[in-house]
Amino acid sequence: MLRIILLGPPGTGKGTQAELISKKYGIPHISTGEIFRKAAMEGSKIGIEAKEKYWGKGKLVPDEITVKLVEERLAKKDCKNGFILDGFPRTVKQAEALEKIAKIDFVIDIESRKETIIRRLTSRRQCLKCGKIYGIDMPPKKEGICDVCGGKLFQREDDKIDVVKKRLVEYEEKTKPLINYYKKKGNLFTVNGEQSIDKVFEEICKILNKKNLNT
Ligand code: AP5
Repeated sequence: MLRIILLGPPGTGKGTQAELISKKYGIPHISTGEIFRKAAMEGSKIGIEAKEKYWGKGKLVPDEITVKLVEERLAKKDCKNGFILDGFPRTVKQAEALEKIAKIDFVIDIESRKETIIRRLTSRRQCLKCGKIYGIDMPPKKEGICDVCGGKLFQREDDKIDVVKKRLVEYEEKTKPLINYYKKKGNLFTVNGEQSIDKVFEEICKILNKKNLNT
């Protein structure tokens, strides 16, 4: 059983690492941000409202909406051997609600500096078709085109500098307190997100493997 939370500021590499963990350990990557973006693209009422009022402006979506969504997702069959939560919980209220829904084995906090985050987010591009993420240190072979599926790359609306700054304020105020919250619970591990993608992944795997052997 591998039930993992990836914590950390916007742009620290949660999505990138979640994809790698998901492939290696065969557990689903659940990104609340992706769920909100998909709902907005599909034009559902709640999806459009969440974009216009909250995430499009760099604000967190209210806890009630987010918790319900995660609860429904974790009840699905593919989560029976574990899961990776990317971007959830993001407030102490969400963490308390999660405790009632599922047990968590690892909370991995990926730390990066503000300058690194701004550089990465304002240069990030994503494939419209398959969701693959590209960045300044990992550009596609052909500009604007996905290496994997040939899909068109786009820039997330909340990756514009003004919105990124607001997201960082939300992180400091509402999400950072979760570091202490999980420190007290005793299942928090910290990884330096300033290293290369491969090196960060190697450190995460060491944490997951070592702990698995001990239990
Ligand atoms: P969400 O999609 O979760 O955004 P986020 O947490 O702000 O995280 P990002 O996706 O921006 O970054 P990341 O850490 O995944 O980094 P990535 O791997 O892409 O949420 C979006 C919005 O939805 C929120 O602002 C909020 O409004 C709402 N929301 C979501 N969950 C919510 C919740 N629980 N409650 C309330 N509201 C919620 O990497 C970034 C870039 O850096 C990429 O280009 C990548 O290629 C590059 N990169 C990554 N790692 C490295 C590395 N080691 N070296 C060099 N480049 C790297």
